[in-house]
Amino acid sequence: MASRVVQPFPTPQARQDEAVQKAADTLGLTRRMRRNRKADWSRRLVRETVLTTADLIWPMFLVDSQTARSPVAWMPGVDRLNIEEAVRQAAHAAELGIPAIAPFPFVEKSLRDATGSEALNARNLMCRAVRAIKAEVPQIGIICDAALDPYTSHGHDGVMAGERILNDASVRILTQQALALADAGADVIAPSDMMDGRVGAIRAALDASGHEDVQIMAYAAKYASAFYGPFRDAIGTNATLIGDKRTYQMDPGNSDEAIAEVALDLEEGADMVMIKPGMPYLDIVARVKDHFRVPTFAYQVSGEYAMIVAAAQNGWLDGDKAMVESLMAFKRAGADGVLSYFAPKLASRLKAGL
Ligand code: PBG
Repeated sequence: MASRVVQPFPTPQARQDEAVQKAADTLGLTRRMRRNRKADWSRRLVRETVLTTADLIWPMFLVDSQTARSPVAWMPGVDRLNIEEAVRQAAHAAELGIPAIAPFPFVEKSLRDATGSEALNARNLMCRAVRAIKAEVPQIGIICDAALDPYTSHGHDGVMAGERILNDASVRILTQQALALADAGADVIAPSDMMDGRVGAIRAALDASGHEDVQIMAYAAKYASAFYGPFRDAIGTNATLIGDKRTYQMDPGNSDEAIAEVALDLEEGADMVMIKPGMPYLDIVARVKDHFRVPTFAYQVSGEYAMIVAAAQNGWLDGDKAMVESLMAFKRAGADGVLSYFAPKLASRLKAGL
């Protein structure tokens, strides 16, 4: 008698294996996105965005002091520099190929008053530093903030009447400040105060005083942000700031308003525009660049720097990789350059070919 072949009923596992095999066989991929990622040479070859030293602006802090460097507690790795050291660091930056620096002053408390009058002193810390750097390192660009906060006893960027920050009265003082900086040799004036009409007023005053080649980089879309905290430690305004800056800096919920701000600053004569802070506002960077097609910069602010460095110090992330990735993101979003406290570190790495 012929033996009967028993066809076993397939187990659920066997049925599943067969289904998976069938699915894999029918993938039929013609476009495999992973091919271009298979090796370092290939990843480099197809990379769309490249970060270079020419993309960097180095913000640095100045202080009137005998000591060359004094650390900023809330920004590990960042020091306040006296003028001689600032000149040395400017030379170092130029050697690395960094196109421009952006100095900010820590002003002695005794020199601060309600109207920020020290800002107009042609012999103030900023003006002396700019002259010294221009004399020794003429090839580097110097970008100087027009804003009164380092100089006011209340820490606001303009002058006050009671609780109010006065717009037009502030613009008059900011314009004089811009002229003092231009006279000292500033290459670029960067109004960071967010008063209405200041770009136009500063442009007109520069032109009327023989500074028609001085550029304006407008802090066009500057948001009222918690990410400026460590900067206020660096220039010593965190203790003095009364209230907050929400009546002049932008509301973080707004995006169309950034377009309006940039449009106005361009009409008023801005040569370059800036978005600030950086990483939380990459959508604004992308939108502004897409819309206007003008030189667009982003400021990776003190809080962004501090977050990366603090996490790295705790061993929670790889600080160097996070630095490169964060700066790359600005370029990918469309920024032509980035103000970053990492500038010298990144430039050194790029120079070493890392
Ligand atoms: C002041 C100014 C600020 C920054 C640049 N210019 C602080 C502020 O508006 O309170 C912030 C930079 C940073 O956080 O790194 N007008």
